[in-house]
Amino acid sequence: MSRERFYVTTPIYYVNDAPHIGHAYTTVLADVLARAHRMLGVPTWFLTGTDEHGLKVQQAAEAKGVPPQEICDTYSQRFRELHARLGVRYDDFIRTTEPRHKTVVSRVLTLLHERGEVYRAEYEGWYCTRCERYFNDTDVQAAGGRCPDQPVLHDVARLKESNYFFRMGKWAAELARRIESGEMELAPEKRKNEVLGFLRKPVDDLCISRSKARLSWGVDLPFDADYVTYVWVDALFNYKSAIGYLSDDPAARERHATWWAHATHILGKDILTTHAVYWPTMLLAAGESLPRKLLAHGWLLDATGLKVSKTKREGVTDQGPPPPSIDALLDVLGTDVTRWLLATAMKPGDDAAFSWDLVRERVNAELANGFGNSVNRVVKMAHQACGGKFPGLGGGGPRGDSLREKTLAVVAAVSAVPETLDMLAVNAAVRVAVAEMSGYLDDEKPWKLAKDPAQTGRVAGILADCIESLRLLGLALSPIFPEKCAVLRATLGQPAATDFVAEARWGVLTAGTPLGEPPNLFPRFDDAKLAALPQ
Ligand code: MSP
Repeated sequence: MSRERFYVTTPIYYVNDAPHIGHAYTTVLADVLARAHRMLGVPTWFLTGTDEHGLKVQQAAEAKGVPPQEICDTYSQRFRELHARLGVRYDDFIRTTEPRHKTVVSRVLTLLHERGEVYRAEYEGWYCTRCERYFNDTDVQAAGGRCPDQPVLHDVARLKESNYFFRMGKWAAELARRIESGEMELAPEKRKNEVLGFLRKPVDDLCISRSKARLSWGVDLPFDADYVTYVWVDALFNYKSAIGYLSDDPAARERHATWWAHATHILGKDILTTHAVYWPTMLLAAGESLPRKLLAHGWLLDATGLKVSKTKREGVTDQGPPPPSIDALLDVLGTDVTRWLLATAMKPGDDAAFSWDLVRERVNAELANGFGNSVNRVVKMAHQACGGKFPGLGGGGPRGDSLREKTLAVVAAVSAVPETLDMLAVNAAVRVAVAEMSGYLDDEKPWKLAKDPAQTGRVAGILADCIESLRLLGLALSPIFPEKCAVLRATLGQPAATDFVAEARWGVLTAGTPLGEPPNLFPRFDDAKLAALPQ
């Protein structure tokens, strides 16, 4: 095992609106990776939470005429509820309005100020309230006078303020060296190149304050009461405050000492610069070590080819059908299938369209007719031909050897997850093995052979190969399908708890193990359920 520990984080979610499939994507990806590591015996700590300060929350509160904390409480709870529905098992949930976090932000800013890493200056620039950041003239011009990150959706306003700045530019070259040496890994490769390209150009210092005249909902700057902390500076420190950085509690500090060196941040490509430049330069300036790895995924896209988001697309007339909402997906397909749809929606680095049509196609082809059908078919035949018991391996012939090989490739892909963070490779290997099993059954036709008493041993050998393969596939996919794989395990007479190290080899099932009824693990997509949803 190459990784001794795994501390995995999601970005903390903004609380000015309800969660959508994009947020669910990041969380499910992190959860699947966390579960895979736990299954492999790697001690794991999984952190998620909500990002509760800043102008957006303040504006949402003003619009509703309620205190900002009330908005935070409501939406933070919505994220927790969504996580529960998605079967997400986190170890901690941090909220940036918690005292344990605000104290740390205040302490670290004092530290940076004392180290001379922060100075005061006049600043004039283009500000995007939705991204909560300044952009320079060149970038705004190139974006046609709009927000350079989201030109279609966000506009920018010219602002002039006296503010506090972090000497980010000073650390750019050092950070580039640490990325090039692999001390902080950036995946996929194209994101690493993007960040290195950014660091090669002159890097501006970072404005870390917001005047209270405009924005009061934030952590007070410890050295100037007229300002609050820029929400991104506040938010990024959640990854350390949550595990006890600069805490007064010795047990919390111990947790930080245990986990920080193993941090992997999962994030969307829209927040690459904040995570790959702002965050590590602040850590360097504070004398802290860098996170181990950043994994920046792409976006789920709607019918217009834009990032799925809650923002109304002003000026876009043909918006096409709306993408599935996360609640609708869960209502129609349940927890596990939703988890799988998200976890395997895209290769990290790429974007992927996401629509009901694609969902229907994938559920039917890959689950109902693929994996689910194999389970049903094999267990049914074992009931008919082998008295509902696992007949014991042997006698399957060369096709059986090939199925074993393809199945063990799945085990190898799972075992590589701590290195690769690639559950898509696991899923792909499962598909190859499932296809191999189908081919094996179609060619050998055990249901025909079963009619000939002389072939009983051969039939048993074929079905035994398939059952043993299904057991291993169920093991490999349990981080994605915790509930369905538990059903599969029970059907194959396995205990609920998995022990990957003991079970991840060919030949674990013992002859005579009674099999359960053939389950219909993955029903076909049910259009009636979709039509019955409230519009
Ligand atoms: N609050 C900041 C993160 C601070 S972390 C210190 C933030 N929040 S967010 O709620 O806007 O987004 C959280 C995550 O959801 C990001 O990783 C973002 O990429 C992801 N997604 C939001 N929409 C998405 C898609 N349409 N597709 C995939 N993920 C996207 O940014």
